[in-house]
Amino acid sequence: MKKSVRIAAMALAGIMSISLFAGCGANNSSGSSASNSSTATSSPAKDKKIKIGLSLPTQQEERWVRDKATMEEAAKKAGVEIAVQVANMDAAKQDSQVENLISQGIDVLILAPHDAKAAASTVDKAHKAGIKVIAYDRLVMGTDVDVYLSFDNVKVGELQGKWLTEHLDKGNIVWLAGSPTDNNATLFKQGAAKYLQPKIDSGDYKVVMEQPVVDWKPDNALKLMENALTANNNNVQGVLAPNDGTAGGCIQALAAQGLAGKVPITGQDSELSAAKRIVEGTQGMTVFKDTRKLGEAAIDAAIKMAKGEDPGADQKVNNEKMDVPSILLAAEAVDKTNIDKILIDSGYLKKEDVYSK
Ligand code: GAL
Repeated sequence: MKKSVRIAAMALAGIMSISLFAGCGANNSSGSSASNSSTATSSPAKDKKIKIGLSLPTQQEERWVRDKATMEEAAKKAGVEIAVQVANMDAAKQDSQVENLISQGIDVLILAPHDAKAAASTVDKAHKAGIKVIAYDRLVMGTDVDVYLSFDNVKVGELQGKWLTEHLDKGNIVWLAGSPTDNNATLFKQGAAKYLQPKIDSGDYKVVMEQPVVDWKPDNALKLMENALTANNNNVQGVLAPNDGTAGGCIQALAAQGLAGKVPITGQDSELSAAKRIVEGTQGMTVFKDTRKLGEAAIDAAIKMAKGEDPGADQKVNNEKMDVPSILLAAEAVDKTNIDKILIDSGYLKKEDVYSK
């Protein structure tokens, strides 16, 4: 630690003399050079390079690969350090990885929990070490969280439910939810229920299976869908799949019965494979959540928090302990009618990739 403080002090002295003689040098207009150079009183420890810890639950879905890459890139651009750990869907592993990040001297922790409840004690450890925590994409339940940064996840579920009700009037449905350890799964289901429940209550929909998909695993979704088809002699007319990975599993089971493309099915995440299925007609919809924006917003908020500034979280989401200051980004439904506009024109996916066989 002492050594790094000394190095930081030397670096600061360098920055100060550069900015004194050359004005504000590089294109880094984030204000850091101003605050570094303006105060004779600022301590070297305070001005050391900001270090962010990032703890991710998985790289199973394409989106988490993007989140990681975006945050690494954004940190690099902002000139801050980032240390990344991936927990491979193991809460105990995530906890010990975070302990490791804490011991590396991070200033802020960005945590996307594998297990919303188990992660409470992980957050408490960071707080005990004086480290502020951003719950990234997924909320941590039952403890104090500094900022929650995500999408409007109830809205995501609403988009899925709305699409299904617009594409299936009556019939037997399979209603799958995300992993029980993920608070997002609860929110998505809540949103979808706003549309599905009235159809169930009126008797238009009969739910022939209602199950969570443990760990969001496509293989688990495949098995559940196979069971639902077998138990109902393939008499299934619609599927609420909570994300693209699980939709992929369900579609595999439908395809084995010659039903792919005949049964409306939802998704979420705008994965390339899902976009391709939408184009070929085997998946009905997905939801676009721009993880590029989320990742950039996380790094921005983390830097502000490290500097003691307000990250601008102007919404509130309750986590059974408190109303957590939140920043929630918008999500959009994507189907074959708007896929080019939303996913390709935005640069999220490449046209040649989506339309290649
Ligand atoms: C959710 C996330 C989704 C989805 C899922 C599986 O928490 O919001 O985008 O991919 O996890 O990782």
